[in-house]
Amino acid sequence: MKILVTGGAGYIGSHTCVELLNSGYETVIVDNLYNSSSKAVERIETITQKKPVFYKVDLLDKTSLDSVFAKEKPDAVIHFAGLKAVGESVEKPIQYYYNNLTGTLNLVDCMKNHKVKNIIFSSSATVYGDPAFVPITEDCPKGSPTNPYGWTKWMIEQILTDLHTSDPGWNVILLRYFNPIGAHESGLIGEDPKGIPNNLVPYVAQVAIGKRDCLNVFGDDYNTHDGTGVRDYIHVMDLATGHVKAIEKFSEKSEVRIYNLGTGKGCSVLDILHAYEKACGHNIPYEIKPRRAGDVDASYSECNKAKKELGWEAKYNVDDMCTDSWRWQSMNPDGYGQS
Ligand code: NAD
Ligand code: WQD
Repeated sequence: MKILVTGGAGYIGSHTCVELLNSGYETVIVDNLYNSSSKAVERIETITQKKPVFYKVDLLDKTSLDSVFAKEKPDAVIHFAGLKAVGESVEKPIQYYYNNLTGTLNLVDCMKNHKVKNIIFSSSATVYGDPAFVPITEDCPKGSPTNPYGWTKWMIEQILTDLHTSDPGWNVILLRYFNPIGAHESGLIGEDPKGIPNNLVPYVAQVAIGKRDCLNVFGDDYNTHDGTGVRDYIHVMDLATGHVKAIEKFSEKSEVRIYNLGTGKGCSVLDILHAYEKACGHNIPYEIKPRRAGDVDASYSECNKAKKELGWEAKYNVDDMCTDSWRWQSMNPDGYGQS
């Protein structure tokens, strides 16, 4: 089976490509490298000893995208490609809506033209907004995302659902990720944020390696066990295996299927900080700062549906995640830049 992976050079995409190749799937990566490096593609090959086919193509360039479909004739698509920085999306809504929505529309139109109707989409727990309840099940109503990035996830879920309504032959799997962190155990691929990291673990990693002075902890007066925000952190390799398991659903009746991918365990900012201290072997300085706009007290999943229907559950804990993140960070202090 041949899988076309949009955004396959990126953080989650590269780890998923490793898992796809190791599971025997032919893998074709389409990525414009806007937020990634061709080194990630080389390292996928180093890890797996198998060469993924790679096209440096922008989803906004529909002619080139169509040529990839004509040449490769994939059986299914995993769609990671998109812009993902929450704060930037508030400043540049047009760029975010244009890239994420138009890129997806071009993709599904090419799929339709080439009769490829199997798609897995990278969605996010952000579609639940301020969740109606925790732990969050897939039945929790979609809420109002607090930023344009989140709305693109919300809208793309709707677009893919409408596609299935128009033609029930479409097999759509919406995977709602919680907070992916960690890296492949080899230390060869990992998350390589450009500029100042927005997310907690990449920031903690840069303080741990000495690139930044101190972690700003955004709020200690949340309604949680230690007052700092609680999230459901999931190892990126667990996420990768979740995608491989989801592919097996394509052999069943075509439907729109929705799965939360998380661990089901909530972890606070200070819990992460202390786990990272253990991983790197020294203290990590931090200061308590005011809350960050748009943050919620707690967001964590209920993952029984994925366990029951996909036969998948997360196997790594927060210590594993921090150990693997630190290995990547310490082996590649400048990410893919100069390593
Ligand atoms: P990433 O930025 O590392 O990967 C996205 C990849 O898409 C990059 O390699 C980028 O170059 C590529 N890309 C962007 N626009 C493109 C376009 N128009 N044409 C071709 N390639 C394009 O991000 P990631 O963390 O690996 O996230 C992957 C997906 O998962 C994204 O859709 C993201 O929104 C979603 N997601 C991420 C998280 C997270 O916390 N990392 C959580 C939930 C959902
Ligand atoms: C986690 C916790 C912060 C940075 C985001 C997106 C979401 C999804 C995953 C894509 C919060 C605190 C953070 C820092 C801190 N992405 N924090 N100091 O906000 O749960 O989710 O990434 O879909 O859509 O919104 O993740 O890592 O930014 O924050 O104290 O420097 O860490 O307040 O409690 P978040 P995060």
